[in-house]
Amino acid sequence: MTDAKVAIVTGGARGIGLAATEIFLEQGWRVAAVDRDTEELHRACDPIANVLPVEADISDPQAVDGVIRQVVRQWGRVDALVNNAGVALFSRAGQTNFEQWREVMATNLDGVFLCTQAAIPELAKTRGAIVNIASISGLRASTLRVAYGTSKAAVIHLTKQFAAELGEQGIRVNCVAPGPVKTKLAMAVHAPEIISAYYDAIPLNRYGEAREIAEAIVFLCSDKASFISGQTLAVDGGFDATGVGLPALRREDGTERTA
Ligand SMILES: NC(=O)c1ccc[n+]([C@@H]2O[C@H](COP(=O)([O-])OP(=O)(O)OC[C@H]3O[C@@H](n4cnc5c(N)ncnc54)[C@H](O)[C@@H]3O)[C@@H](O)[C@H]2O)c1
Repeated sequence: MTDAKVAIVTGGARGIGLAATEIFLEQGWRVAAVDRDTEELHRACDPIANVLPVEADISDPQAVDGVIRQVVRQWGRVDALVNNAGVALFSRAGQTNFEQWREVMATNLDGVFLCTQAAIPELAKTRGAIVNIASISGLRASTLRVAYGTSKAAVIHLTKQFAAELGEQGIRVNCVAPGPVKTKLAMAVHAPEIISAYYDAIPLNRYGEAREIAEAIVFLCSDKASFISGQTLAVDGGFDATGVGLPALRREDGTERTA
């Protein structure tokens, strides 16, 4: 077991991060689950073998350095970093105040930058992988997402920036852009009318499951993805691929028309 690979998953206490933790464990990895919600972190992780719960706020540079030290002290290696911790805010562009903007950026963007930088020396030793979690809100603009969408678009570009420089050290950097999943984060901002609009706009006509996002995350961390770097994979039921009129066309009776 001492040779088992080690993944650090931020935001590992629940939702997509916890689902990724479970799949890593099924595939024989050990996981350091990092979260600032200490109660939820210990409730979820204490009962699970081969999981190290690490209490930290990933927007705090000193705390982030401490996370890497703690994991290396415990297990002596880091093979993957999943930058998953995130916060959501739906707020009008003209009314989002600077404090709210900074709060979103601090976790969603600064946190990814800080954790990535701090993990580089250990990942270089193992020729490891990084997977950042963005969102379809970073691929396509929408109302109410001036801070959230911009933070996630920045994560998509940050993925390419780090991939460009870390390849020489054998470190791969990729990104997963999830579509909607009914986690605590999504349910806090998705009103009933937003939920039904998503059902309409997604070709698969449903929300995703946390495990469906996590499968893509773990794949990109694995050796099966050994020549993939700098990419963003939308795991979104087809949302990003579609455009005009999907709900109306879905209701069409299939009659052929020509013009
Ligand atoms: N759920 C969705 O519909 C959806 C869609 C697209 C993208 N995402 C992204 O997926 C990721 C996971 O989201 P989720 O839906 O599982 O959310 P969630 O709220 O269920 O889990 C997020 C976890 O991150 C932790 N966290 C937040 N800020 C932190 C910080 N500064 N330091 C340490 N821990 C912190 C929270 O305590 C929580 O446990 C996020 O980056 C989110 O933006 C989610």
